[in-house]
Amino acid sequence: MHPDIQEIILSEEQVRARVAEIGAQISRDYEGRSVLLVAVLRGAALFIADLARAITVPVELDFMAVSSYGSSTKSSGVVRILKDLDETIEDRDVLVIEDILDTGLTLKYLLKNLASRKPASLEVVTLLNKEGKQRVPISCKYIGFAIPDEFVVGYGLDFSEKYRNLPYIGILKPAAYLD
Ligand code: IMP
Ligand code: MG
Repeated sequence: MHPDIQEIILSEEQVRARVAEIGAQISRDYEGRSVLLVAVLRGAALFIADLARAITVPVELDFMAVSSYGSSTKSSGVVRILKDLDETIEDRDVLVIEDILDTGLTLKYLLKNLASRKPASLEVVTLLNKEGKQRVPISCKYIGFAIPDEFVVGYGLDFSEKYRNLPYIGILKPAAYLD
C-alpha cells in the first residue's frame, strides 16, 4: 500500500467487478442504441476507459474539463468549463461519466449546460457517491459505490494531481495534505 494511504476502502478487484456490472447494465438499458460517453476530466479518465470496454453496445467518447476545486479538498461551488465537447450532442443518448459526486455543484451546472443542447437522453454514471453530502439534488442513474464522507484518492481521483494512478481507492492520511 502507498505510504500516504490510511485505508483502502475499495480494492482493485472490487472496482473492476463493479465497473463490469455497470457496463453490463448500461448495455442492457441501451440495447439497440448507441451511447455517447462524456467523461469529466481528469478524474473520470480511468473510469471511462474501463467502463467503455465493459459496454457491448456501440460507444463514442467525448471529454469535458471543468474546474471546481483548485487543489484544496473543499468544493468551491465555482464551475468553469476549461474544455468543451468536440462534438454536438443534439439527439444523442448521452451518459455523463463522473468519478465522484460530492456536493453535486459541479454536476448540477454541467447537466444544465448539457441539457440545453437537446440530447435525446441525458443520464449520469458516477463511480462514487458521498452519501448525505449533496447540497443540490442530482439524479444519478448508475452509481458504483456509496462511500462515507472522507477524502479519497486513487483510480483517477487526486489530491493536488497526485495518486490518480493508484489501482485502488483509499483514504488519504491527513498528514499527506500538509506536505
Ligand atoms: P462536487 O462539485 O462537490 O460534487 O465535486 C465534484 C468534484 O470534486 C469531483 O469530480 C472531484 O474532482 C472532486 N472531489 C470531490 N470529492 C473528492 C474526493 O474525496 N477525492 C478527490 N476528489 C474529490
Ligand atoms: Mg480533483
